[in-house]
Amino acid sequence: MIETIKKHIAEVQAFSSTNKEEIENFRIKYLGKKGLLNDFFAEFKNVPNEQKKEFGQVINTLKNAAQEKVDSLKDAIESNSESKGVYGDLSRPGEVVPLGSRHPISIVKNKIIDIFLRIGFNVSEGPEIEDDWHNFTALNLPEYHPARDMQDTFFIQTNPDVLLRTHTSSVQVRYMEDNKPPIRTISPGRVYRNEAISARSHCFFHQVEGLYVDKGVSFADLKQTLQYFTTEMFGKSKIRLRPSYFPFTEPSAEVDVYWGLETEADYRITKGTGWLEIGGCGMVDPNVLKNCGIDAEEYSGFAFGVGIDRIAMLLHQIPDIRMFSENDVRFLEQFKSVL
Ligand code: PHE
Repeated sequence: MIETIKKHIAEVQAFSSTNKEEIENFRIKYLGKKGLLNDFFAEFKNVPNEQKKEFGQVINTLKNAAQEKVDSLKDAIESNSESKGVYGDLSRPGEVVPLGSRHPISIVKNKIIDIFLRIGFNVSEGPEIEDDWHNFTALNLPEYHPARDMQDTFFIQTNPDVLLRTHTSSVQVRYMEDNKPPIRTISPGRVYRNEAISARSHCFFHQVEGLYVDKGVSFADLKQTLQYFTTEMFGKSKIRLRPSYFPFTEPSAEVDVYWGLETEADYRITKGTGWLEIGGCGMVDPNVLKNCGIDAEEYSGFAFGVGIDRIAMLLHQIPDIRMFSENDVRFLEQFKSVL
């Protein structure tokens, strides 16, 4: 009996066909309800005990060989007919195309841009490698002015006239030189400062600066605009303007938004005060307007700047600014679902 089954195994292994009907007959012959395998299995109880083990093994081998043969022949027919058809098997599951994800800095930047586009601002961009005039001098920061120390600067080679911009205010200078008021523009971009790298500060980061120049622009307009921004961005409308100093604005202020003190995270983020600093602002100094060819008697304006990295860290609870530039896909992939 065992010999017979072994012969069948050889026969099964040798079998080949591309004909559906032949394959089906082969299947019925071995694996069908009244097929040979069932006969052999029924025979099992009559086999003497000492042969039972070997008998069981050969039947199983035959069963597996028959099943594998049928599967592989059917597969072969299917893939053949697929490549013949124009579309192949239309019921086949689609291939999953892995979706990319936006960088969290881009997500926040786009959101800020969106908010300002809605109230008539446009977007302006400029070079990251700047000259002294656009980054400092035109902004009321002449050479040797002590306020230059506020922003530690990377200079390119030994030429002190060529540097990496320390803020995107330089773009605003360019924009004012090239355009007549009314001006409503925001300038997003990467900026560089020679600072020690830590969890909270990096030698490069991202800003969005805004500029509005027209007849009769007042501090009240600035406050309203900032309030609109914080409401849209964070859902919080309570802001505080703390007197401050920037060479290019007068008066100047730091912008704080009231974040609240409801949860433990609120305490941590706001250092227990409930307030969060998001940027600087002020009325454009008349000297800056003059430097850019705008009549300071006729026009006035406001400007503000916010840090994108800080806001992104806040909104997405990112504990370390260095994560933005490490390019760890495990970090970046988490932003898949955010637009
Ligand atoms: N340029 C300032 C900075 O980078 C921010 C700012 C912009 C302040 C506009 C006031 C007005 O720190």
